[in-house]
Order: sequence, then C-alpha cells, then structure tokens
Amino acid sequence: MTTKAPVLRGARIAGTGSAVPDRILTNFDLEKMVDTSDEWIVERTGIRERRIASEDVVTSDLASQAALRALDDAGMTAEEVDLIIVATVTPDTIFPSCACWVQAKIGAKKAAAFDISAGCTGFVYAVSLAWGLVAQGAYDSILVVGAETLSRIVDWEDRNTCVLFGDGAGAAVVKPCELGEGILECVLKSDGTGSDVLIIPAGGSGMPASHETVESRLHYIKMKGNPVYRFAVRAMVEATSEVLEKANLKIEDVDLIIPHQANQRLIELAAERLGVPDKLYSNVAKFGNTSAASIPIALDEAARGGVLKNGDTLVLVGFGAGLTWGGAVLKWNKE
Ligand code: UT7
Repeated sequence: MTTKAPVLRGARIAGTGSAVPDRILTNFDLEKMVDTSDEWIVERTGIRERRIASEDVVTSDLASQAALRALDDAGMTAEEVDLIIVATVTPDTIFPSCACWVQAKIGAKKAAAFDISAGCTGFVYAVSLAWGLVAQGAYDSILVVGAETLSRIVDWEDRNTCVLFGDGAGAAVVKPCELGEGILECVLKSDGTGSDVLIIPAGGSGMPASHETVESRLHYIKMKGNPVYRFAVRAMVEATSEVLEKANLKIEDVDLIIPHQANQRLIELAAERLGVPDKLYSNVAKFGNTSAASIPIALDEAARGGVLKNGDTLVLVGFGAGLTWGGAVLKWNKE
C-alpha cells in the first residue's frame, strides 16, 4: 500500500532527540557468552558494540528521555503535545501501550497516545501517520518515538541473534509547515506471508504463555537471517526508489539516506544498488540493531552532528518483521 495524505498543509520534523543506555556490551564480552568471535561479528555485520539497559530501565524510560530531548530541541514543552505515537516491539506491558507510559512520564497532559507495531519499520510508519494527521489539520504537535529494549527479548544463548541487537530510543516532533517543505512523500509496504522469518512465536493469543513455551524458549526472537537479509536489500532499494518517484525526485537529488541500522554489509549493498556509495548513514558499529529506534537515533546523531543541514533532501528507509518496509522523503528544515 502507498499512503497519500489529503494535503492541506505540510508537516516537518521540528526537533529530534535520542537516548541510549550507558552500559556497553562489546563483541569481546559476547565471546565469553556464546560461541562467537569479534572477527565473525565485525566481518558479517559491522557491529562492534551495543548498548544494554540496566534491569530497572524499561522501554518507556528510554522513550521518555528521547522525547524530552526532542521537545527541547523543538523549543516546546510536553504540555503542548497533542499526540504521542510510539513504534516498538518491546512495550513495557502488552497493555497499556508504551505511549501511555510515556505520556505519564513526560507529563503530556493533553496528548492522545498509542503504539504501533511494524517491527523495525515502525518509525517510518509512525512518521507517515504523523505527516497525514498534521497535513490534514487533525493535530499540530505530534511526538513520534521509536524505542526498544531488545535485550529483554533476545535469547542470550542463541549466537544467531544475540550478537545483533541493542537497546535505545529516538524521537522526533512533527509540526505543520509550508507545503513543499518538510515531509514530501511516504511509502509503506507489508507482506504478511513472510511473518515466520522474524517472529516471537509465544506470548500472544496464538500461543499464550505456559511452562512449555518458556521451557522451549519461544518468547525470544527467532530469525532466519539469510531470507531476512535477501528481503532487506530488495526492500531498501524498492522503498527508496518508489518514494523518490512519488516525490518526483531522482536519487541524485538526495543528500543523505538514513536506513534502518541492521547490518553494515546490507547498508553497503543497498548503497551500491542505488548507485550512491557515500550517501547512506551508518552507526551500526556503535549501537547494533535497535529495531524501531535505529532510524531516529541515527537521525538525531546526523542532525546534531551537522551531517544533516537545512535544505538537505533526506530519505528514511526501513524494513523488518511483518514483513514490513517503507520510506519517507523529507526536505530538512528544522529551523
Ligand atoms: O532488523 C530486522 C532485520 N534483520 C536483519 O536485517 C538481519 C539480516 N540478516 C543478517 O544480517 C545476516 O543474515 C546475519 C548477520 C544474521 C548472518 O549472516 P550470514 O552471512 O547470513 O550468515 P549465515 O546465517 O548464513 O550463517 C553462516 C554461519 C552458520 O554456520 P554454518 O551453518 O555455516 O556452519 C552460522 O551458524 O555462521 C554461523 N553463525 C555464527 N558464527 C559465529 C551465526 N551466527 C554466528 C555468530 N558467531 N554470532
């Protein structure tokens, strides 16, 4: 599916923020936990370290910290927020939503709040939704957050997955702007026939929690790495090309692409296929794969680090469980 908002006004990202836990888990630490090596992890993924939340920290804590930083960056207070959308696969509780925990923690008294579940594409889905709602005049200030504590759902005995993931959160404030500025187009896609390649099998209505599901380790991430890898390259290229076509832009017009940070090899392959070897942003070496948080963490880093400048054409592109994938193209105008 592609989305098209009834365009009455534009919507832009007016502020960004991020938060990662202090604790660093290196590849060398992982060598002591499972049968792996720093060499294998770096060569196959580009990941060198990831952040892990301490036991007393939940997803909404990281989300709230990132949200407050984004609000500060936008020159706003939490009381001014109309809606909070949190993209996550690791909410504090199945219900209430993570967004409601965030609403309480930051004191966003007038805000509506809900979560969306779109795997690692969650932030792109949330941005697209916020764009539509602001463009049609439903809301003036939307807080969009991608936040995860994947360390809670990773099987620390499974070397196929435990070396890949990390914890963190990123946030953006979406506000109205002139038409033709800010978010220009979005493309969202899904293919539920691929649900089995990346899944937590138990804990939902299909397989409620029981002694057996716990003993069989079915509450942890199960991933068929290779099929996901092949899908991911295709998805990144397709979503980027389609969203640019919708916006009447060419790949040469793009200044920066911020892809979901899953694997350095994937990012490089997608860059090669798109013909833009130098335009894909990467911080996967430092944070690993933080699912819905990876794009907003990278976005905040690029914005604060001066990599992203006002007037730049920016593409955000994600892919993940569902299967889901999608892209957004923006004219960056934060000031
Ligand atoms: O954010 C959601 C999207 N997720 C992704 O984008 C992940 C996409 N997939 C990938 O990034 C890659 O498929 C992986 C990094 C997960 C794996 O890399 P690969 O080049 O596809 O390796 P593979 O799965 O084909 O495994 C190759 C070998 C296997 O051994 P055998 O069967 O050939 O003897 C694995 O058992 O590597 C082994 N292996 C490991 N060895 C050392 C798997 N994990 C490890 C490990 N350390 N951590």
